[in-house]
Amino acid sequence: MFVVATSFSNGIAAKLAEKLGARLVRAEEKTFPDGESYLRIPEKLGGTALIVHSLYAPQDVAYMKLLMAIDAAKGAGADRVVVAIPYVAYARQDKRFLEGEPITVSIVLRGLETAGADALVTVDIHQPRSLDEWLSIPHVNVLPVKELADYFRVKLGQGVVLAPDKGALHRAEEAAKVLGLSYDYLEKTRDRVTGEVAISPKEIDVSGKNVLIIDDIISTGGTIALAARSMLKMGAANVYVACTHALLVKGALDRIYHEGVKEAAATDSVPSPISKVSVAEAILRGLQQIKEAI
Ligand code: R5P
Repeated sequence: MFVVATSFSNGIAAKLAEKLGARLVRAEEKTFPDGESYLRIPEKLGGTALIVHSLYAPQDVAYMKLLMAIDAAKGAGADRVVVAIPYVAYARQDKRFLEGEPITVSIVLRGLETAGADALVTVDIHQPRSLDEWLSIPHVNVLPVKELADYFRVKLGQGVVLAPDKGALHRAEEAAKVLGLSYDYLEKTRDRVTGEVAISPKEIDVSGKNVLIIDDIISTGGTIALAARSMLKMGAANVYVACTHALLVKGALDRIYHEGVKEAAATDSVPSPISKVSVAEAILRGLQQIKEAI
């Protein structure tokens, strides 16, 4: 097996090549004077090529380069191209919320197949059902929850794990299972008199406890800021935050630390100052799950 690294691999390709005992091949890249991207795989490939390429900013360039890498790998002799995408951009637009909008996750996924991808591993894609909906190649979505939970094990002690909403409950449930703790999700409430919005756990009392809030994405930090403020107001001892994809736009980190978050940690699916754990092990688990296909 060959593992192909690009400028959007963020070191994960190298980690996987080492774990798989595979040869690491680095794509050559440049930008033409008119702004177009160029990518070349400078070695002959054979058998399975695993391309590890995330879709963080600039997302459009990242996506074009991924399509190029898939086609280049086939052209360089790979019999099968398996693509591992640590962060799938454009996944949140998974339906036409307004008339006239595109379904961007469909474009992104179908494009991979058209370019020649034979199998796909995604990490905590916004809606895993998008994969079943738009792909006909073998695919699997993996969660790096075990790695994130382990990172907080000692700091958290006897705490509770919370999801910022019901849709994120599966992550909190898995993290709680890894840590042997209880879990819950947060529900939004509005004070009828002051109009103030707060969120509180549905059933668990957080008073005096350490709290770990776990989500898929921190973008502006708005969701986590509100959750952290509410938990501290309800008497939580410390609030820790874990997420898979730390997009961290518009001063998100300052915003959540200002609200009293003790520490935030994320994976390396997107390069960030809080990327403390790697998604490499989770991707390995995914490859294992689709090994018949590759
Ligand atoms: C929403 O569906 C996601 O799970 C995240 O909660 C959301 O993207 C976080 O965004 P922000 O950090 O801007 O609140």
